[in-house]
Amino acid sequence: MIEQLNDRLFHMSNPHTSFILHVMQNGQIEQIYYGKPLRGLTDEEIDYLVAEQNKSAGTVKFFEDDSNFTLTDHPQAYPVYGTSDFKEGAIELSSNQAPYYTDFRFVEATTKKGKARNLDCPTTYGDKEESETLSLRLIDQERQLELILHYTLFCDSTAIVQSQTLTNQSKTDLQIHRMLSGVLNLSTKAYDFTHFSGAWLKERHEKKRPLEQGIVSIGSLKGASSHQHNPFIRLDHQQSTLDHGEVYGLNLVYSGNFIAQAEVDEWDKTRVMIGIHPSQFRWTLAPEDSFTTPEAVLMYSDAGTNGLAQHFTHFIENHLIDRKWRDTPRPIVFNNWEATYFDFTEEKLLSLATIGKHLGMECFVLDDGWFGKRNNDRSSLGDWTVDKQKFPTGLASFANKLKNMGLQFGMWFEPEMISPDSQLLKQHPDWVVKHPYSRISVGRGQYVLDFSNPDVVAGIYEQMAAIIEETNLTYIKWDMNRNITEAYSAYLEKQAIHQQEFFHRYVQGVYALYGKLLTAYPDLLIEGCAGGGGRYDLGILFYSPQIWPSDNSDGVERLSILSGTLAGYPLSSFSNHVSASPNHQVLRETSLAFRQDVAMFGPLGYELDLLALTDEEKQQISERIAFYKAHRHLLTHGKFVQILPNRPYDNEICWGVFSHDRSEAIIGFYQKMARANPAAKAYLPFPDYLKKDRYYQINGQETVSGNLLKNVGLKKPRLFTGVNHATYQLAGDCQSFIYHIVERKDTK
Ligand code: GLA
Repeated sequence: MIEQLNDRLFHMSNPHTSFILHVMQNGQIEQIYYGKPLRGLTDEEIDYLVAEQNKSAGTVKFFEDDSNFTLTDHPQAYPVYGTSDFKEGAIELSSNQAPYYTDFRFVEATTKKGKARNLDCPTTYGDKEESETLSLRLIDQERQLELILHYTLFCDSTAIVQSQTLTNQSKTDLQIHRMLSGVLNLSTKAYDFTHFSGAWLKERHEKKRPLEQGIVSIGSLKGASSHQHNPFIRLDHQQSTLDHGEVYGLNLVYSGNFIAQAEVDEWDKTRVMIGIHPSQFRWTLAPEDSFTTPEAVLMYSDAGTNGLAQHFTHFIENHLIDRKWRDTPRPIVFNNWEATYFDFTEEKLLSLATIGKHLGMECFVLDDGWFGKRNNDRSSLGDWTVDKQKFPTGLASFANKLKNMGLQFGMWFEPEMISPDSQLLKQHPDWVVKHPYSRISVGRGQYVLDFSNPDVVAGIYEQMAAIIEETNLTYIKWDMNRNITEAYSAYLEKQAIHQQEFFHRYVQGVYALYGKLLTAYPDLLIEGCAGGGGRYDLGILFYSPQIWPSDNSDGVERLSILSGTLAGYPLSSFSNHVSASPNHQVLRETSLAFRQDVAMFGPLGYELDLLALTDEEKQQISERIAFYKAHRHLLTHGKFVQILPNRPYDNEICWGVFSHDRSEAIIGFYQKMARANPAAKAYLPFPDYLKKDRYYQINGQETVSGNLLKNVGLKKPRLFTGVNHATYQLAGDCQSFIYHIVERKDTK
């Protein structure tokens, strides 16, 4: 609900949260509250909220005739630098080489119910009954600019979605150097800045640091949101825990260069901002043109980091990803990459498919190596036609054979890339991202296609559409294996467009291809991927309901990657595969039981040589698949809860999924390294997601009340102590234990 409390105060509220904006005396907007719901405010309460507290000393004042008002005292909703506030602003403009010190003043407010989902550009969405947008129109009279600040509130979430539209109403061109998307003001610095960072094979590990005066900032300049940093960040109140206390999250609906930063000023006030990275960004606005920023999603929870993660999951599954994926079971995939790499024949793939089908798998995903002359990673990207050596009778006949076995068919593409030896490069040498310099950097033996050029997007679409039609494809794995260097586009040069528009236009090209594919083939399940998790963001999730989170498929490593990712993204988005032992990325040996116990949380897949399995292993796999199928909804869409903290250095990990009706849970306990002489009787803290007045059965045996689970805890598996040979349940490194907890209907 959006209320205008008086002519200067706007209150967006629902039963979960409140967000309050105020028009300051200079006409700019300040953000005076975001947190627990404050409904039905009285006039006295309103006065209390807007009344001055204290003036800061020693700063420049905004008005010549009022010695008191200074912007630095106010939590600006869309901060500008240079007019009595010296912190970094959200917007930076210039014209004719001169900087603009903008002075946007409030003119009017409008509200609109409903927000459409449109495949042209990733945004959040909601029906008329579910969402309402407040748009505050500001004008900078002197420079003839219009700035609209959009804020959307949803009925079932604490999310506030922010974006801005700038229109040039003057007669001269305008340059945008910085236009960020999301702003959050906090009145103290009592928070940890938490981000999810790493590298290839170790994406999204939780990292935390206390806020202190100055700026802490993360971001990407790689042309993609990147393996190194993720646009999801969190501000954890220093007294918050997994399940208690105030936590804020920010994320960006965008897949390219981004920045996320927190600046603490000399009075310990904190300004958090997120948006397109201003470095390497510039946009020219001709008279009458507009620019709209990508959306930022701000989220609040007073129930700790688990609470925030659950808010994000609900929000992303209901207001970002197409809702049909909530109810469509994700197929159990067999992917041939780690089973064969480039070395396969149709015959070999069919034998793998036969076993996979027999074990219960549902979709065969043909990974890299099926096209051109692609026998290694140096060749043929851009030539999306079948390799007849590997598929002598073509792809349609291969697809039919799978279909006749009762399997769905998926294929790997890397649409944005081109190999030096490709036919495509011979035909279109100017389609490559390439500076006129003589030297050009190569990554994985390949170049990047110029997706800022609509002809490139159309050309790749045509090739992909032909394959989709030929094979009746239902699933695509969309990969992206190198980042952009020496960014330069021959197309932009011809159009006389500034080269620093390239990165943003490239991302728009990626979205255009996604949009074209999903418009023509709306039921395609596109799995995102970028050398593993190099582009795990809300822009990609808008189109791809699931993402390959990392090229590291080792069970131990995945413990950290899963927890870091699920802090801000849904379990249903995290493709999780069982791979071989020793693992190919870290050469660690683990049991099949351990690997399956990790991988069954999220959309499940198998990526190992099924021909090498023993009968016992086959038995284990088919039993696990049968269990997964019986509990698939819980394991992909249940309430995911981190039961023990899971940072990369924690040894014992425990998480669980709980059914929304509180009748069932599946809990995973993992021990990375065995420790000597553990406690004989120990409990795991149990979160409050079951019914205290009901009884639950654990793994079909012991019965326990919800009350005891909550107040005493869940019995830890019996670890090997050195003297309990007859009774231990877990011994050694890389061990796991699964609890299946089900409400007993026959008890009260
Ligand atoms: C990337 C992906 C892998 C696999 C290979 C194929 O690394 O992340 O899963 O598809 O490419 O080349």
